[in-house]
Amino acid sequence: MTRPLLAHDGEGHGPVLLLLHAFPFDRRFWKGVTPGFVQAGYRVIAPDLRGFGDSKAASAWSLLDQAHDVADLLASLGVEKAHVLGLSMGGYVALALAAAHRQVLASLVLAHTKAAPDSPQAREGREAAMRTIRTLGASPFLDGMLDKLLAPHASQGLRAHARTLMNQADETLLAALEALRDRPDRRGELPTLAVPTLVLTGAHDGISAPAENQEMAAALPDARLEVLPDAGHLGNLESPDAFVRAVLTFLAGAPA
Ligand code: MLT
Repeated sequence: MTRPLLAHDGEGHGPVLLLLHAFPFDRRFWKGVTPGFVQAGYRVIAPDLRGFGDSKAASAWSLLDQAHDVADLLASLGVEKAHVLGLSMGGYVALALAAAHRQVLASLVLAHTKAAPDSPQAREGREAAMRTIRTLGASPFLDGMLDKLLAPHASQGLRAHARTLMNQADETLLAALEALRDRPDRRGELPTLAVPTLVLTGAHDGISAPAENQEMAAALPDARLEVLPDAGHLGNLESPDAFVRAVLTFLAGAPA
């Protein structure tokens, strides 16, 4: 089966930095941090994952499908190796990419993400979210999600900005909630993932909490944890300068 090529933005010259967005966002998620990476000499490639933004999809998908799509995109662009930065859902895709296409990884940034699967409670939360979207539409779900994503001290301006980036179609949200609910447990793979890795999260992240991320970093052979003091779950939007600085400092020590 041929897969449709993901819509994407590409900017800059140099080693490739692939940016994989969170749920329920698309490649616009990275607009605020891309200039910092480009100015530092990286070629940034930011796709809309399958179903999101301009990468329309009609059927169900898994996070492994997303990883295959991303590998196809890199191949189509002639990219053999990339620094891969996945944030939250993008991190789940990055871990699937590490499992199925490890040869493309120069290094990994696992931002605000986890290797653990959904707990039974989280799975119930996905079911409840799907029921809400089917009966009341996406807005109540997205409004509620925003509160969980951002640190409590987030400004009204940031809240409004983040909310406008969350405007995906209902079908996209439903397909993603199923895929997120059914994602595998990748914790057992961490000790074999011998790629330089930065585990990055926010002090106020209630979804990928620092303590849980510390465990993930400890299970990886070559990883360190950095915690952004002012961020919740979306460090690139909440603390963009600190986010770019942390990633660039890490990349400066990673093999090209
Ligand atoms: C995300 O930010 O991508 C989501 O919080 C991921 C999830 O719900 O598991």
